Amino acid sequence: MEIYNFGKELIVEAGKFIETRMTQEFKVDRKSNPNDLVTDVDKETEQFLYTKILERFPEHRIIGEEGHGENINDTKGVIWIVDPIDGTLNFVHQGENFAISIGVFIDGEPHCGLVYDCMKRDLYHAKYGNGAFLNDQALKPAENVPLNQSLIAINPKRILAEETRSSFFEIMAKSRSVRSYGSAALEFAMLARGQISALLFFKLYPWDYTGGAIITDELGYKTTDIFGEQLPLLGSTSVISGNPKIHSEILEHFTDDKMLHDFHDKFHDL
Ligand code: IPD
Ligand code: CA
Ligand code: CA
Repeated sequence: MEIYNFGKELIVEAGKFIETRMTQEFKVDRKSNPNDLVTDVDKETEQFLYTKILERFPEHRIIGEEGHGENINDTKGVIWIVDPIDGTLNFVHQGENFAISIGVFIDGEPHCGLVYDCMKRDLYHAKYGNGAFLNDQALKPAENVPLNQSLIAINPKRILAEETRSSFFEIMAKSRSVRSYGSAALEFAMLARGQISALLFFKLYPWDYTGGAIITDELGYKTTDIFGEQLPLLGSTSVISGNPKIHSEILEHFTDDKMLHDFHDKFHDL
């Protein structure tokens, strides 16, 4: 079975694994700070995905948030980039509003993207060049709604720093209103459905954005960092995604923000 179909079945299976596992007891640990949590379920789900992918495709490589592929520093061959639970805080506090995210790349080029909202049983998926779908339904292409008529998604915690405030606050003030859902992958899914018109993050990792960005790319949305550059498959970066109009409107706010640009390269320590 080719990678895309295998991935679609696998992510639904992993969703069932999470649903069952979360009814039993699990441990919650802190990572880099008291608000950065990881549970046994995150780690076990990543292991589940890792094992199944390698059973089927022994030559593929996997990068996961919970430690797999830490030594990968090139993009040759087939690479699966997985976030076993995107929205761990929602998982812990709410038991919903989280997703599994998978982006598959071949020699650094996007192959397919998958985001699964397991509690709603909604699978967002796209194979490069073949359109994007929510379950069996084709998603509509991006519409050029401007910032002042749009809902936009932002993670408020990341923009409270002095260096990030000014441009971000201007953009928020110009928008119709701001939302924060706590899962970048689900925010990409909402963008794909046209429920929001843009999302902005000051720091994300490839496992947060690759699955979702492959899906929204298919629909004509644009995704870059705050400099307008393509997002990397290794490392962390800022992310702006939206319809082409709002994307360029938002980028304009960042163009002359030297303080923000300088801070961008230091944010690895955040
Ligand atoms: C987080 C979510 C959240 C974003 C954070 C991410 P996690 O991922 O995507 O929306 O604001 O920066 O770390 O830790 O729940 O997988
Ligand atoms: Ca994540
Ligand atoms: Ca995660």
